[in-house]
Order: sequence, then C-alpha cells, then structure tokens
Amino acid sequence: MTTILHNLQGIVTPADTVGWELNIQAGVALALEDGRIRAIDTPEKLQEMFADARRIDGAGCWALPGFVDPHTHPVFFKTREGEFSLRVMGKSYEEIAAAGGGIRNSVRVFRQASFDELSELTYQRIRRFLEYGTTTIEAKSGYGLSLEDELKSLRILKKVAELLPITIVPTFLGAHEVPDEYQRDREKYVDLIINEMIPRVAEEKLAEFCDVFCEKDVFTVAQSERILLAAKDHGLQPKLHADELFYTGGAELAAKVGAISADHLLKISAEGIRSMADAGVVPVLLPGTTFFLGKSGYAPARQMIDAGMPVAIATDFNPGSSMTQNMQLMLTLSALYLKMTSAEVITAATRNAARAIAREDRVGTLETGKDADIVLLDIPGHEYLPYHYGVNHVRKVIRHGRVVFERQA
Ligand code: NIG
Ligand code: FE
Repeated sequence: MTTILHNLQGIVTPADTVGWELNIQAGVALALEDGRIRAIDTPEKLQEMFADARRIDGAGCWALPGFVDPHTHPVFFKTREGEFSLRVMGKSYEEIAAAGGGIRNSVRVFRQASFDELSELTYQRIRRFLEYGTTTIEAKSGYGLSLEDELKSLRILKKVAELLPITIVPTFLGAHEVPDEYQRDREKYVDLIINEMIPRVAEEKLAEFCDVFCEKDVFTVAQSERILLAAKDHGLQPKLHADELFYTGGAELAAKVGAISADHLLKISAEGIRSMADAGVVPVLLPGTTFFLGKSGYAPARQMIDAGMPVAIATDFNPGSSMTQNMQLMLTLSALYLKMTSAEVITAATRNAARAIAREDRVGTLETGKDADIVLLDIPGHEYLPYHYGVNHVRKVIRHGRVVFERQA
C-alpha cells in the first residue's frame, strides 16, 4: 500500500553524502511504501502513478528528515535538579562529582530501582524525543556500572524500542565512571568491563557501540584504549567522550582505534583535529552541555568543518549536564555558539548524525529508498528554524511511513 504525503511547502534535505549544500524543493510531494520513501515528485505525478494511494496531509509544512540524535543517556532513575540548583549558586559540575554527586549519585539510586520502574521512566523520556521531531536516537547505558545493572540498562532500551515508534541504537557505556566500590582499585573495574561486561553485552547482542568517558579523573587514555580494543574484538564499534573538560588526547585515541565518533571535543588539539579528519572519525558536538554547564569555550566547529569533517550535533540528554530532548534547541545553540549556518546545523542534525551511528544508509536524508522518517515543521523556510528558538515547530512526525505524533498548530 502506498501513501502520498501531500500539501507540503516542499522538502529540505541534505543533498549528498558529503558537503553542506541543502536540496530544497518547493511544491513536491512524497510517495511512501513499505516504510520507505518510494518517490519524490509533483503531487499530480504521484497521484497519477499511485491512483489508489492513501494520503497524509502535510498541513502546509516543510518536510525534513526526522532528526537523528546520536548521543543520549536516557536510562536513569532520579533526576538531579538539586545539583542544578547548587550549580546555579556557583558550585561546578566537577566539584559536585568530586564530592560523590554527579554520575555516581545516579548510579547509587539506579541500582535500587526495579526494571519495570526504570522502563516506565525511560519510555516516558524517550517519547519526548519524538514530540520534538527526533525519529532515531543513539542511547547509552552507564548508570548501572555493575554487570547486572548494565545488562538491565541495555535490556530496558531493547524493551522500550519495541514499544515506541522510534529507532533506538544502543551503546554500552560501562566506562561512564568508576563506581564507589572500585574507587580504590580503578584498574580492577577496567578489568571487569573487559573480562565480564563486554563479552556478555556482545553475546546477548545488546549494543552496537562501546563508549568510554575518557577524561581527567575518570578513564585515562591508556585505560580507554584497552577497553575499546577489547570492545572491537567483540564486534562493538568504539565511540568516545573525548577532550571535554580537559585535553587528554582522546581525539587522537579515537583516530588510533578507528572509532566511529568522538564526542564533546571542547579541548581538542590541532593534532586531534588532523588525526580524526584523516581517520574519518565523526565529531559529535554537544553545545547543549556547554550551555547547561555554563561554560564558555564551545567546541571549535569551524575548524573541523574547514578540515573537511562531517560535524554532527546531539543533545547529550542526561540528568546531570544536559536535561533536554530538544534537537531544535541544539540547532539554535550550534548556530550561535558553533557559528554554523542554518544549512550546516540541519545537515549536522540529520545526515551527519546518522553517520555517527552507522545509519546513513537508512536515515538522515529524504531520498528514494531511505526510511520514511520525516518531520513536518510549521516554519516559513529552513533559515527560520534555529532563529525562532525554545519552541516546538513540529506539526507531525512520520516514522516508517506512519504518522506517530501530531500537534495542533
Ligand atoms: O556526556 N560525560 C559524561 N556523561 C554525561 C554526564 C552524565 C551525568 O552527569 O549524569 C555527559 O555529559
Ligand atoms: Fe554524554
């Protein structure tokens, strides 16, 4: 059965597999079939080709590829607004973490919560990504930090993916922090990740990627390398939280181990940019985190773009350093603080984001053969999208050819 998406202003999509040009076609409609885009043409032509097609009303919107959010941490128990208030009063994220708050605080409470309780919370949180036009997310474990609790986290993602019309790409992040019980023997925790967690996660096919928080006072470059090489041996592709708060050489490590992406990168070196560009590692920038932590030095996106890198952006949704599911807000922050154009931020949030999670053959552009994952935005043109900020421009979200979310104008 074919469906025609008609009554659109037109479509806006990254044009090709590389470059930053948008392909803007006014007045076209889309034919959707078997969850894929079957054709893009004039409404008259599509009506002729598919005479008995069902129809979806485009409500006079512009159609864009559903946003792809390639870095999120949605599986946690309690929120941390108390820490937010402390930060507002002047305490830093690092001070709060050093005092036993931060990620370790989340880990303590996570372990007390049941699978069902956590599933329900995760479900509600992930639903909100859809409401803001995101049809694919990457989602990390990382608040369990024991074998059973990390497996629990990834199984929750699997369950929620079966319940919600959103694509969830799971990442194992057992190396998010060193839990309380290993603080005095950190290498032993690295051994546990390598010898027990990674083999089980791989065996149960619970994740596609393995990430590490490579950061001063968290995991060293040497520990990160050991973990990521073990992950690779088990078929999990490396990712890294790199050079965020301090320069450690995480970007260079990402290139060395052939990571698919390295994320954050506020403190990346010139050498880090060169080596990532050469190795084809996707930089995933998280301006919401810099903003929410009240920091000033945003990642050097322009240098990365000049080096030919396919910069992607993400929310980093998590209870500590970026509590938002809103990719539209990330477009505004990227425009203002990463100095990216409207065309660039749209490409970074769709096609390049898909590349950061190995989904570029399925999503991230509007092209024949791609998944029919489409967001309809009530805007006069694409330049308006990052400009009118802090609101939700979504009218409808289509996933695999079906309307899965709708908002009144
Ligand atoms: O990406 N960097 C580590 N993880 C998160 C923060 C997680 C938390 O504070 O709970 C991040 O910023
Ligand atoms: Fe993160």
